Amino acid sequence: MNDLILRALRGEEVERVPVWMMRQAGRTLPEYREVRAKAGGFKELLFNPEWAAEVTVQPVDAYGVDAAILFSDILVVPEAMGLPYELVEKVGPRFGQTVRSARDLAQLSPVEPDRDLRYVMDAIGLIRKALDGRVPLIGFAGAPWTIFCYMVEGKGSKDWALARRMLWEEPALSDALLGQITEATATYLEAQIAEGVDLVQLFDSWAGSLSRDLYVQRILPHMHALVARLAGKVPVTVFAKGGGHFLQDLLALPCTAVGLDWQTDRRIARRLADEAPGAPKVLQGNLDPSVLYANPGTIRAETTRMLDELGMTRTIANLGHGLYPDISVDHGRAFVEAVKAYQPTQRETTTTA
Ligand code: CP3
Repeated sequence: MNDLILRALRGEEVERVPVWMMRQAGRTLPEYREVRAKAGGFKELLFNPEWAAEVTVQPVDAYGVDAAILFSDILVVPEAMGLPYELVEKVGPRFGQTVRSARDLAQLSPVEPDRDLRYVMDAIGLIRKALDGRVPLIGFAGAPWTIFCYMVEGKGSKDWALARRMLWEEPALSDALLGQITEATATYLEAQIAEGVDLVQLFDSWAGSLSRDLYVQRILPHMHALVARLAGKVPVTVFAKGGGHFLQDLLALPCTAVGLDWQTDRRIARRLADEAPGAPKVLQGNLDPSVLYANPGTIRAETTRMLDELGMTRTIANLGHGLYPDISVDHGRAFVEAVKAYQPTQRETTTTA
């Protein structure tokens, strides 16, 4: 088995840096679009374990990445809690109901993964068979704040003003909802681990909509509870998009790795990760996905610079957010190959006589 990513997560010295890409399974790949067309829609694809397994494995072959990520969506958790959603073409996710009152909250139900998310559990079994130990499998879920955003607003938003308003207007209700999401997510990820995922990642895609104070005071306690439930079972990576202004607080979580978005300074992040309380943390990231629109030479140069700044140890190469759907497969592959070919740049050293 290619266990490079697991060794990097243990902090071991590695012969090369492991690499995968957020959103590696998806519309960039013609073979994905083919399966999706056959399925008739995104949710149909999601609910079918055979198809979900097929598109999970596709990027391992197409890009040569060192890990597969389960093909699913973060929004299956709110759906399992009682808020069904649709993915509207060119618009995004849409929920029929939202949670804005104590009455709404009382309508939600606890999640039983074997009953409510059986299709995900079945997909994991099929993926493990299809991967046959070639690369580790990453499980994932949305982080409590990001799921809260969708449950309160019912659709995407630029600034999540309604969700943030609720934190201030209804602190007790907000905390109760965050607590229920946290419980459902922990149960869901424990079930993924029981089915055999090798590591998990939490996506806090909308962390950037909160101030450091608000995140630390109102969100981090839930993140801490969630990560602590999983710590010791499998490695846990926390990716908080736009959370660079509270990177130190994320690094204090009992997680193994922190995912950096593309706006975060790598050298500062490395210093903070090395000094993290307890043990040094692994960093994952963080090439600006728009670099992949450049020519392959530029992609190689930018990837080399990224790895020079992050270093070889305790590093997992990735993009600083998901692949954009119109990035060509060749350019995605150029990134993966640049990581695989990477040799530390010999910096000119000035000697003082
Ligand atoms: O390859 C992978 O990364 C695994 C699969 C994956 C998907 N969504 C598939 C998907 C993962 C890890 C996610 C996570 C996810 N979903 C996030 C967090 C990551 C991030 O980008 O910050 C968020 C915020 C969502 C919610 C979501 N799902 C949105 C906003 C959308 C619509 C936007 C879009 O890109 O069209 C989705 C749909 C979705 N999830 C697609 C895929 C491949 C596109 C569906 C399609 O049209 O085929």
